[in-house]
Amino acid sequence: MGLSLHISIVPVILMVFSLQVWLPLGCVEEERAALLQLKDSLNYPNGTSLPSWRKGDARCCDWERVRCSSSTGRVTLLYLYSIRKGELGDWYLNASLFLPFEELTTLFLWANQIAGWVENKGVYQPFKMSKLESLDLSYNRLNNSILSYVDGLSSLKTLDISYNRLEGLIDLKGPTNLSALYLSNITAYGSSFQTLLQSLGALPNLTTLGLGYNDLRGRVLGFVNLKNLELLDLSYNTLNSSNIFQTIGTMTSLKTLTLQGCSLNGQLPTSQGLCDLNHLQELSMYENDLSGFLPPCLANLTFLQQLDLSSNHLKIPMSLSPLYNLSKLKDFYGFGNEIYAEEDDHNLSPKFQLEVLSLSSRGQGAGAFPKFLYHQFNLQFLGLSNIQIKGEFPSWLIENNTYLKGLYLENCSLSGPFLLPRSSHVNMSVLSISMNDFQGHIPAEIGAYFPGLEFLMMSDNGFDGSIPSSLGSMSSLQLLDLSNNVLTGITHSNNSLQGQIPGWIGNIFCVT
Ligand SMILES: *[C@@H]1O[C@H](CO)[C@@H](O)[C@H](O)[C@H]1NC(C)=O
Ligand SMILES: *[C@@H]1O[C@H](CO)[C@@H](O)[C@H](O)[C@H]1NC(C)=O
Ligand SMILES: *[C@@H]1O[C@H](CO)[C@@H](O)[C@H](O)[C@H]1NC(C)=O
Ligand SMILES: *[C@@H]1O[C@H](CO)[C@@H](O)[C@H](O)[C@H]1NC(C)=O
Ligand SMILES: *[C@@H]1O[C@H](CO)[C@@H](O)[C@H](O)[C@H]1NC(C)=O
Ligand SMILES: *[C@@H]1O[C@H](CO)[C@@H](O)[C@H](O)[C@H]1NC(C)=O
Ligand SMILES: *[C@@H]1O[C@H](CO)[C@@H](O)[C@H](O)[C@H]1NC(C)=O
Ligand SMILES: *[C@@H]1O[C@H](CO)[C@@H](O)[C@H](O)[C@H]1NC(C)=O
Ligand SMILES: *[C@@H]1O[C@H](CO)[C@@H](O)[C@H](O)[C@H]1NC(C)=O
Ligand SMILES: *[C@@H]1O[C@H](CO)[C@@H](O)[C@H](O)[C@H]1NC(C)=O
Ligand SMILES: *[C@@H]1O[C@H](CO)[C@@H](O)[C@H](O)[C@H]1NC(C)=O
Ligand SMILES: *[C@@H]1O[C@H](CO)[C@@H](O)[C@H](O)[C@H]1NC(C)=O
Repeated sequence: MGLSLHISIVPVILMVFSLQVWLPLGCVEEERAALLQLKDSLNYPNGTSLPSWRKGDARCCDWERVRCSSSTGRVTLLYLYSIRKGELGDWYLNASLFLPFEELTTLFLWANQIAGWVENKGVYQPFKMSKLESLDLSYNRLNNSILSYVDGLSSLKTLDISYNRLEGLIDLKGPTNLSALYLSNITAYGSSFQTLLQSLGALPNLTTLGLGYNDLRGRVLGFVNLKNLELLDLSYNTLNSSNIFQTIGTMTSLKTLTLQGCSLNGQLPTSQGLCDLNHLQELSMYENDLSGFLPPCLANLTFLQQLDLSSNHLKIPMSLSPLYNLSKLKDFYGFGNEIYAEEDDHNLSPKFQLEVLSLSSRGQGAGAFPKFLYHQFNLQFLGLSNIQIKGEFPSWLIENNTYLKGLYLENCSLSGPFLLPRSSHVNMSVLSISMNDFQGHIPAEIGAYFPGLEFLMMSDNGFDGSIPSSLGSMSSLQLLDLSNNVLTGITHSNNSLQGQIPGWIGNIFCVT
């Protein structure tokens, strides 16, 4: 009796077990078949990508680059980027292969050499993924015919078709819910571009627009409807400085504005335009030909966290006083401009605590370290190279800023001895003080105070004495440059030759 009861229970237990464990791991058969077809197509004629997608394996939700919904078990995300190997040549997609994926929300197909679509029995077959919200087809070889394919995607929120072979007239009618559109390097220009910009007016929900690397020239007027834009990237277009700021000034929702490499010249506007964008958090205008002083109205951009004005011809005071009211500012890149010394106003102190400050420049005599630096304690990277500062080694900077990782002070006219901070600074990874007038011994304990250094550049100074063996305890050191000093104890160009090369130096690349 007991035996027969036992036997009849076993299948029930197995069934329960398989229902609980098998279902979530398996996947919809129709989708599994489509994935295998997709694999064959992208490997055609003889590629070997996606080896984990195997015919005998039913658990397609576990396959690499596939994600399924935990409730329905259907495929929701396909991350199929950069998988078609270059030697296989162009890939022609079969749009029908995507039909089974009813719940797909995200499809990444970038960098796969997609050149177009195969026709099915001569019939044009658009994408029909009614839930698709994000489609990335960038870095392929698509032409304008892609536009009719995406027109059917009514739920689409993010579309990236940058870096393809689109050109001229871009007319998007279909996905009017788009919030993010990336059209970099589509080589639209002249009147075509005006038409594009006007057609963008039909996308009222657009918050992100990437138009970098186009041949957008001259007046940009079509933006006026885009009042909800939060991110605008116009980098590496040729823009007209005299009206771009006016036009952009109407987009008062902007949080991120990128205008690098846009051939902007003349002075920054002192009123109206740029300074009206009082929600800006990131502003990047590097690699332009901007000149003149920083306008006081920049103080209105009180939400600014990142400001990049590097590689222009701007006159930037070493004190950074025009930026003092920007209480949220964390990163300021001003390198490659003209840095000048300004009387420090004792009554003013900045409201910001910077994490990154880069002023390395073709600077003139800037006198001493600016006073505001004494009140910064969150700095992670500080670059002041090529500015004539005059003064001692700023060990106080290292003491005050416990998160400091990189300090760049090449060619700054600093002098005196190398001063160690009061305590060990484990996170410091780059210290560059080459081309100054430092003198005296390199402190014997340097290795214990900067145990995490990866790059240490101290060349072209007046250091003398022997090279401390504690450098050997810097286990991460990749580059050590002590050349052009008067050091002894190791073979070094332009140093006196004495003693033997310590064993530890074998791990380090020495520049001489
Ligand atoms: C794939 O086929 C092409 C010719 O069709 C050949 O040149 C290439 O070497 C093959 N690659 C592999 C990995 O078999
Ligand atoms: C495209 O895929 C569909 C669905 O698998 C198939 O029926 C059709 O034959 C394919 N078309 C081409 C041209 O390969
Ligand atoms: C786009 O490319 C496809 C396939 O390469 C080609 O058949 C078609 O004529 C091209 N269309 C345009 C508008 O250039
Ligand atoms: C826009 O999206 C909403 C929901 O997010 C949807 O109800 C509406 O139909 C969409 N509009 C269009 C034109 O597809
Ligand atoms: C804009 O988005 C809202 C919801 O975020 C939606 O209700 C509305 O339909 C969208 N507008 C258009 C034209 O799709
Ligand atoms: C933009 O596209 C053209 C060809 O259409 C290409 O030659 C150029 O290198 C691209 N620019 C960038 C920055 O990728
Ligand atoms: C730039 O815009 C100004 C004012 O709108 C105009 O006078 C000037 O001719 C434009 N310059 C170029 C190079 O298009
Ligand atoms: C900036 O703020 C000042 C007051 O600090 C105000 O007078 C000015 O209108 C504001 N706007 C611009 C664009 O400067
Ligand atoms: C900075 O803010 C203070 C008050 O917070 C204000 O008095 C001063 O005018 C502002 N400076 C600039 C340049 O806007
Ligand atoms: C050092 O800085 C001065 C002043 O900025 C500059 O003229 C000189 O070219 C710099 N030297 C090097 C080697 O960069
Ligand atoms: C930074 O160092 C200077 C000089 O030692 C000191 O006066 C100042 O109080 C320090 N600042 C902070 C924030 O610790
Ligand atoms: C050093 O870096 C680590 C990791 O980035 C961080 O957790 C730690 O707080 C840092 N320590 C100091 C003293 O800054």
